[in-house]
Amino acid sequence: MSAQPISQASYADASRAFAPMQLSDVVAVASIEKSIYTAPWTEGNFVDSLMAGYCAWTLRAAAERPSPLLGYFVLMAAVDEAHLLNLSVASNAQGLGHGLYLLRKAATLAIEHKASSVILEVRPSNLRALAIYRRYGFREHGLRRRYYPASDRDHQSREDAIVMRLAV
Ligand SMILES: CC(C)(COP(=O)(O)OP(=O)(O)OC[C@H]1O[C@@H](n2cnc3c(N)ncnc32)[C@H](O)[C@@H]1OP(=O)(O)O)[C@@H](O)C(=O)NCCC(=O)NCCS
Repeated sequence: MSAQPISQASYADASRAFAPMQLSDVVAVASIEKSIYTAPWTEGNFVDSLMAGYCAWTLRAAAERPSPLLGYFVLMAAVDEAHLLNLSVASNAQGLGHGLYLLRKAATLAIEHKASSVILEVRPSNLRALAIYRRYGFREHGLRRRYYPASDRDHQSREDAIVMRLAV
C-alpha cells in the first residue's frame, strides 16, 4: 500500500477509540512504555507533557470493559512544525494496524494545528517503526548523532537517531 494523502485519511473505526490522555492514564501508559523500550519515558515525562499542553492521546479497545490500552502518542504541535515525541503500541497489540492508526490521528492533529510538517526521531535499528513511517510517507531528513541514551540493561553505547519528516 502506498502512503495515503493525509487530508483524505479516514480513521473512523468502531472497534477502537481515541481519547485525550488524562493524568489517570499515566500509570498504565508508563507500564506499557517500560515493557517495550530499553530507555522508556517515565511517568514524570508523561505528566510533564500533559502539563505542557502537548497533544497526548490514548487508543483503547472500544468493545471491551474495562477497555484495554492499545497504544498512545505525544505530539508537540506548533504552527510551523509538529514534533511526534512518542508513538507506541502495547506489545500484545502490535502488528494489528494500531501503529498506523495512531500515526493517522497524530498527522490529522498536526494539520488541525496548522503545521506544515511533522518530524520525528527513530532508531536506525527499529525496522518496524521505520517501515510504518516510510509507508505513511515520512522521508529521512537528517541524523542526530548519539541521540538515544544507552540502555542500562545491556550497557550499549548511545545510538544515533534518524530524523524523519512528513509534509502535511
Ligand atoms: C513501531 C510500532 C508503533 C508499530 O505499531 P504496530 O501497531 O505494531 O504497527 P502496525 O500493525 O500498524 O504495522 C504497520 C506496518 O509495520 C510494518 N511491520 C510490522 N511488523 C514489522 C516487522 N516485524 N518488521 C518490519 N516491519 C514491520 C509493516 O509494514 C506493517 O504493515 P503490514 O503488516 O500491514 O504490511 C509498534 O510496533 C511499537 O510500539 N513498537 C515499540 C515502540 C516503538 O518502537 N515506537 C516507535 C518509536 S520511534
